[in-house]
Amino acid sequence: MQVKIVGDKLGAGKRLSGTYTIPGDKSISHRSVILGAMAKGITEVKGFLTGEDCLSTIRCFQLLGVEINLEGTSLTINSSGSFSPPLNTLDVGNSGTTLRLVTGLLAGQVFNTTITGDASLQKRPMERVTIPLSLMGSNIIGKYAPISIKGRQLKGINYTLPVASAQVKSAILLAGLYAEGETIIEEPIPTRDHTEIMLKYFGADIAKKGNLIISRRASTPLKPQSITIPGDISSAAFLMVAASILPKSRILIKDVGVNPTRTGIIHVLKRMGADIRFHNERVNCGEAIADIEIRYAPLKATIISGVEIPTLIDEIPAIAVAALFAEGKTIIKNAQELRVKETDRIQTISEELSKFFDKTPIIPKQDGMVIQGGFTLNGAEFNSHGDHRLAMSLAIAALAAQGDSMVCNSQCVDISFPGFFQILQIHS
Ligand code: S3P
Repeated sequence: MQVKIVGDKLGAGKRLSGTYTIPGDKSISHRSVILGAMAKGITEVKGFLTGEDCLSTIRCFQLLGVEINLEGTSLTINSSGSFSPPLNTLDVGNSGTTLRLVTGLLAGQVFNTTITGDASLQKRPMERVTIPLSLMGSNIIGKYAPISIKGRQLKGINYTLPVASAQVKSAILLAGLYAEGETIIEEPIPTRDHTEIMLKYFGADIAKKGNLIISRRASTPLKPQSITIPGDISSAAFLMVAASILPKSRILIKDVGVNPTRTGIIHVLKRMGADIRFHNERVNCGEAIADIEIRYAPLKATIISGVEIPTLIDEIPAIAVAALFAEGKTIIKNAQELRVKETDRIQTISEELSKFFDKTPIIPKQDGMVIQGGFTLNGAEFNSHGDHRLAMSLAIAALAAQGDSMVCNSQCVDISFPGFFQILQIHS
């Protein structure tokens, strides 16, 4: 699918206004299926993200013998609390979160499984998960998908995460729930803690002490729950940036998850001068939620590095667009993880955003990029490389460019933000 985006003609004053609701959080949606499948009984989920990645997680657990029904964005999971061996290889498509977390869970089962994904997922590193799982006693073959898992009785470990990754942490925690003894994970740099929050909500024996996460196998299965999933701040990011670069914009995004391990985008945009306010702040199912108001304000450059990176890793494509409209030079470093996302995002962001200019204002670095803002963007033809967040970043930049643009290969937005083009009134 290719989508045409009509750019902002000089003086036309294109802007965003009104109230938006966005699809459910992708990370929390995955976890709701996984924990609902581990619990014995009926778990009800509202606000589920029906994007391709989360549908892959549902399919996976259906093949593992769990009864799951999806109606609109409501999910009912009816599980015996245990799994049956799948008849075939589990194929999780493009979903890295499904691959990593489910590998952790399968390592602790008593049967053998093979799990794989699409061509892009087969290039993403799995040793970060298989090494700690092997230390727990699992028998796993494959550095990349397909991964073959021979179920074993696991034992708990004491493990320091060498890469700041919530997927790795979650895989170990899920395996730990099937292991003998205690599992202790040391997390030098904090990452999103949705697994810990939801495990606690489902009654697991899990505690946090400083930068340690300690869990023990429960004597009874997890208890089924009712969950309402907040809007995904990673999707809200595109609207926040669009409103911050289109003069006179003013929008309200309702019911957005604002877990502090995910709000790096808010801190960065505010530092850049964006006008962002929280309303109606509350907590539901252990997760912080707010309505977010954004009004246009001129942006200035910033530096993004260190512990802030995991709190905004998925938002860097959108932040790169904000940086193009900011006064000065924005520096992003310590973000080498971008190289192993859905695409090598340092390369694809630099390559595609550069097409807006005769002379590129973006210098890619090994662990980030340097972006000089303030040049006029001219519409062009782009390729998403099948990366949903790149497609959406190109689309919002194109809205503020002079002249029209085309984003090719844009179907992938459905992975995390079904309805993205409609919400922005962009038609193919
Ligand atoms: C995710 C963790 C992050 C993030 C991904 C979703 C999760 O990946 O980039 O989109 O749901 O746990 P890493 O754990 O590899 O940093």
